[in-house]
Amino acid sequence: MKKINSKLVFITGGSSGIGLAAAEQFLKQGARVCLIARDSSRLEKAAGELKLSGAAENRIAVCSLDVSDNPKTLATLSELMKTLGVPDIMLTCAGIARPDYFENTDYGNFRRTISTNLEGVWNVLSAVVPEMKKRGGHIITTSSVAGFVGTFGYTAYSASKFGIIGLSETLRSELKPHNILVSVLCPPDTDTPGFAEENKTKPPETIAVSGNVKLMKPEDVAKTLIKGIKRNKFLIIPGFMGKLTFILKSIFPKLVFAIMDGDVRKTHQREN
Ligand SMILES: NC(=O)c1ccc[n+]([C@@H]2O[C@H](COP(=O)([O-])OP(=O)(O)OC[C@H]3O[C@@H](n4cnc5c(N)ncnc54)[C@H](OP(=O)(O)O)[C@@H]3O)[C@@H](O)[C@H]2O)c1
Repeated sequence: MKKINSKLVFITGGSSGIGLAAAEQFLKQGARVCLIARDSSRLEKAAGELKLSGAAENRIAVCSLDVSDNPKTLATLSELMKTLGVPDIMLTCAGIARPDYFENTDYGNFRRTISTNLEGVWNVLSAVVPEMKKRGGHIITTSSVAGFVGTFGYTAYSASKFGIIGLSETLRSELKPHNILVSVLCPPDTDTPGFAEENKTKPPETIAVSGNVKLMKPEDVAKTLIKGIKRNKFLIIPGFMGKLTFILKSIFPKLVFAIMDGDVRKTHQREN
């Protein structure tokens, strides 16, 4: 999609972090945005911040929704599309990460991670794709560097984010004849409220392994996202280290495993 001005963009996870930064960049391009997340007060606060930053009030809408709830997502988005119109761009960014050792990751944590990160995308796209098929559009899902490299401590999260890449790659092929482009955003560690939350349970080995990739600012991730959309890229990987990791993992997976195993070993040696 070459031009973003005057397009309608729905953003799940739009009240915080990368989703909110993306909303700001879309507004700067002249788009209209609808922020979708669960907590209404956080949504209103985010919309207020965007208005303060100079975005026109009539280009921002909000919608409270838990995307992990299938029937509610179908019903709410169907109503939303009747009111605002069918989105030209659908960015699914809602997600959670609660890293821990596998044996400490209880079934509830696993279920919440899969139902928010993976089923949430499924639910949203189930509502939007049939409408988008009538006129075309662009879908961007959000995976992660941990969606193409299985990373220590992220069993539940990586399972959900690998799943998003599989879902998106398949949809890319199915939806191309319908004039719908599909992209996947794969951010590295990014300085957001969500990242601060996941740091609370992160094992030291995870910190050591992910320390190889520089912490990015959400604004920079969002700027790369906009560039990727304009260039119709399938994989949008912000930052040099994220891109390098992708290339190395594709060509020399054993090298990536060896680097990560070395980081884990060093952490254990330091601790013993
Ligand atoms: N930050 C990173 O280091 C990083 C790296 C790679 C990938 N990512 C991915 O990027 C995305 C955004 O991450 P972030 O760090 O910006 O997170 P964040 O600051 O925690 O924001 C998450 C957003 O998702 C919403 N959300 C969470 N669960 C939801 C649900 N069930 N239904 C609807 N909305 C929900 C939250 O609002 P409510 O809680 O009010 O619903 C919030 O708006 C996620 O998919 C994450 O996995 C992040």
